[in-house]
Amino acid sequence: MDIEAIKTQIDSEIQNINSPEELEDFRVRFLGRKGIIAQLTSTIPSLPQEERAAFGQGVNALKNKILSLINEKQKLITARPIQPAVTLCDISMPGIVQDLGHLHPITKVIDEICTIFNRMGFSVVEGPEIETEYNNFTGLNIPLEHPSRDVFDTFYLKLGDRSLLLRSHTSPVQIRVMKSRKAPLAVVVPGRVYRPDAVDASHSFMFHQIEGFMVDENIRFSDLKGVLEALVKAVFGKDIRMRFRPHFFPFTEPSAEVDISCIICKSNQKPDPSSMGAPSDQKRHCSVCGGKGWLEILGSGMIHPNVFKHVGYDFKKYTGFAFGMGIERIAMLKYGIDDIRLFFENDLRFLGQF
Ligand code: DAH
Repeated sequence: MDIEAIKTQIDSEIQNINSPEELEDFRVRFLGRKGIIAQLTSTIPSLPQEERAAFGQGVNALKNKILSLINEKQKLITARPIQPAVTLCDISMPGIVQDLGHLHPITKVIDEICTIFNRMGFSVVEGPEIETEYNNFTGLNIPLEHPSRDVFDTFYLKLGDRSLLLRSHTSPVQIRVMKSRKAPLAVVVPGRVYRPDAVDASHSFMFHQIEGFMVDENIRFSDLKGVLEALVKAVFGKDIRMRFRPHFFPFTEPSAEVDISCIICKSNQKPDPSSMGAPSDQKRHCSVCGGKGWLEILGSGMIHPNVFKHVGYDFKKYTGFAFGMGIERIAMLKYGIDDIRLFFENDLRFLGQF
């Protein structure tokens, strides 16, 4: 095969190529594994020793020429002329609908509750999720031997010699706020809290709470009742009833747990004179309240004087109330959700419903 003859052949062939397919065909014919360049190279060993170098250089030059011709042609073929706009955009085609995101149901409930408290004059404050042992326990009058301080109930962090932890409730923000502001004050604190609980339909190692507290001269238990009643009616409707049960929390005295009438069987919503105290069928079979007719939603009480001592407030002058509630529980009741894990799995089939 004569290299010079091949060069002329290539020059004329390349001019007639107009499509990527033709160009690929050309490439394979000359540069492919069994192509002309490969054939030429394979003849080198059979040539007389003194001709080999010159022939090899010739083949190489030919190969480079082919490569650069292919390159140029490729650019020519792919550089399509610009189409007029009308053919690029068919305005009769249906548009592409953009999926719009929205707030997570937990965020929605937090926003709703904070707005209700805002209207009653509370400000919203956030605190850090990594807390000191002092703010999470000691400042709140929780003694060293209290079970909640156990490593099984709190995530402790090993960070040098500082006693840090993932806050197990939002109550430590009471300490932060009261240490940095003077009374009177009314504050709500939404945020994440952490507990080493085994995950199941009603437990998660991370969940959300809203803490609330109000401090002034002459704040009374009835103020707490009034504020919580306004909250419960705004969130669940005006027919909801509420009851306070005596309870114990180290940071409040007296303390109470608050129940609302079951929003599913509604059996405690209004007194039913015909029932004579016997549970109605509806109530007996309710899977949400278990036939009790009441649902616990929060803990509350009058701020303990020892807490005021820790933050430097005059406990003879000031009184205050505090409460804390789990947001997931409220959201589950409000939307009829029976598994807390749904909130955290990021399944759009679930989240898209809110
Ligand atoms: N911190 C409590 C908890 O996580 C909830 C709570 C109860 C907060 C009573 C309060 C309160 O402010 O007064 O279980």
